[in-house]
Amino acid sequence: MKVLVVGSGGREHALCWKISQSDKVEKIFCAPGNGGTSEVAENVTLDIMDNDELADFAEENEIDLTIVGPEAPLVNGIVDEFEERGLKIFGPGKKTAKLEGSKVFSKSILKKYNVPTGKAEIFDDPHAAIEFIKGQDWVRVIKADGLAAGKGVYVCNTEEEAIDAVKEIMVDKKFGGSGNNILVEEKLTGEEASFLVFTDGKTIIPMVSTQDHKPVYDNDKGPNTGGMGAYGPAPVVTDRLHKDIMEKVMKPVINGMREEGTPYKGVLYGGIMVTDEGPKVLEFNCRFGDPECQPIVMLFKGDLVPVLESCIDGTLDKQDVEFHDGASCCIVLASGGYPIEYNKGKKIRGIIKADSFKDVKVFHSGTKSENNEIFTDGGRVLGVTSRGESIKEAIEKAYEVVDLIDFEEMQYRKDIGAKALDR
Ligand code: AMP
Ligand code: GLY
Repeated sequence: MKVLVVGSGGREHALCWKISQSDKVEKIFCAPGNGGTSEVAENVTLDIMDNDELADFAEENEIDLTIVGPEAPLVNGIVDEFEERGLKIFGPGKKTAKLEGSKVFSKSILKKYNVPTGKAEIFDDPHAAIEFIKGQDWVRVIKADGLAAGKGVYVCNTEEEAIDAVKEIMVDKKFGGSGNNILVEEKLTGEEASFLVFTDGKTIIPMVSTQDHKPVYDNDKGPNTGGMGAYGPAPVVTDRLHKDIMEKVMKPVINGMREEGTPYKGVLYGGIMVTDEGPKVLEFNCRFGDPECQPIVMLFKGDLVPVLESCIDGTLDKQDVEFHDGASCCIVLASGGYPIEYNKGKKIRGIIKADSFKDVKVFHSGTKSENNEIFTDGGRVLGVTSRGESIKEAIEKAYEVVDLIDFEEMQYRKDIGAKALDR
């Protein structure tokens, strides 16, 4: 079969790499892809926000399965367009992807189905929001309703910071229309985990739990990024907690979406805060996480393609999903200055040697290939992803390989997985 993967990050390289091992797959296209996806797929220059262009390509090239990596095309209705044309596509439709696309909608579903989450109020007027915040010391998180490339969440320490966040989002319109509505939310404390499941709308199969590292510097210092590294399984998700997340979060939300008449198909990613009172939902994503997808794919046993197809066909109950024992760790190598300002076009050295290491794969994100050389082309550049018998072994292996890679102004966190080792 022919497969089209939409996106250009480490997640999409990991997906292309995994499905290239499937006996069912003869050809992969990646739109637009990166310097790594071209190892296993043909990169095609398509506008991932143009549903017609993508569906036309799928029709013309007789694509049997399209897999969507990032949230923006999902929220933009790519799945609806493909389904209308009878094309097979993995991911939730526009109405369901609102679980990520609108934080107001997402919170309303959480409240309606009694899913544990932080207290919150919704505002469409900055003055009313600011009046409300004054004197409410639980309100320290301000969220733009719509997509904001991961930058629309302000976790504040003081009332003043919270008020400034409201002004940036609603008055300065930093995220345009995505900030017409906001959530003012309770600040939760605890350790975070990423809990991803496959679902066809009825059956729910959890993936190995993971933990992301959002802040750019060691010890969770500095501004938030798309994620500087991830590992799995995450020991913070104990067996007890795993059961709680399935029973109190995943089942009510996925059953709830079915009751709403918009069944959820694809990957549902719960961003969970493990608090003293149990798991609470911080947010939902309607797709694989990046970098979380990299350790997940590394640990996934067997062929991913039938699992994805069964999420579309409603036959997930017939699938056995298994993960390898042991652990996986992904360390993101980023351009200096990311996530604020950074240079591109730096030559990357050492990838071939790094990639020849057993049980390690170097996934590309912001890279491009020119005359058989690889150059940086984005903020997050590579995800060095290892597999080991223990989390300790996986972390050590990944850092050993990181030492072989070099580009000018390269930065990375030295403490990926440290929280797992502390437990
Ligand atoms: P994003 O993935 O960009 O939406 O980032 C959300 C991040 O903001 C989460 O991973 C948390 O670190 C943080 N966050 C979101 N909501 C809360 C909350 N209610 N309390 C504390 N931190 C939060
Ligand atoms: N790593 C966080 C995300 O994919 O949203």
